Amino acid sequence: VPPPGRNPGHGLFFDVWSRFYEWTPFLRRALFRLQDEAVATLDPQRGQRVLDLGCGPARGTKELLERGARPVAADYSAGMIAKAAEQTGSRAPIVRLDAMRLPFRAHVFDAILCTNSFHHYPEPRTCVAEMWRVLRPGGRLVLVDPSGESAVSRLMVHVGEGFLFGLEGVHVHTDVEWVAMLREAGFREISATRGRGISPVRRAEVFVSAIA
Ligand SMILES: C[S@@+](CC[C@H](N)C(=O)[O-])C[C@H]1O[C@@H](n2cnc3c(N)ncnc32)[C@H](O)[C@@H]1O
Repeated sequence: VPPPGRNPGHGLFFDVWSRFYEWTPFLRRALFRLQDEAVATLDPQRGQRVLDLGCGPARGTKELLERGARPVAADYSAGMIAKAAEQTGSRAPIVRLDAMRLPFRAHVFDAILCTNSFHHYPEPRTCVAEMWRVLRPGGRLVLVDPSGESAVSRLMVHVGEGFLFGLEGVHVHTDVEWVAMLREAGFREISATRGRGISPVRRAEVFVSAIA
């Protein structure tokens, strides 16, 4: 279990939410589609080791398994970890961790999937450095998260999650900030673009892809 600190993974919030996470109407209609899109973008090859970071109830991990990859599901919240175990049976390792301190050796993953979790990590740069460390050279990061380019996202994250739900340390980043942060950590072939199309949820998110 990771050591407690400022913002310990917003554990209690997600422990409670884990009980009905998959039945939250907004999620079913919107966020799950983004997760599906991220998995499709990642397009894992058979046997690839993929870290599903901030996996929640491991819906993404299940999809990765179905595509023949070898995912590791990882989350801070004990409640989410329990749901993830229920969902995946013993088909994938499940690790309780803090995204700022990944308990893996260097270069062990072919890819990292991170969907709608990153804005909760209190030290974004530390996490990005950890992501780079655990990816093999040439490994790929695919991440979707609320975009700092979107007023709706800034409101939802800072006022909704930060102020109303009292979640400390939440943050969003502009596309330019994303590119700078990833480049600083050693990533290349970086793209960070706000979603396009008619879906308001898509337009409120940033789609990130980068190579370690
Ligand atoms: C909104 S859920 C997203 C779950 C899933 N990836 C999805 O797309 O539906 C965010 C998840 O991030 C996890 N999380 C938040 N802070 C974390 C941290 N510091 N380390 C690891 N996981 C964290 C939460 O426990 C929660 O399960």
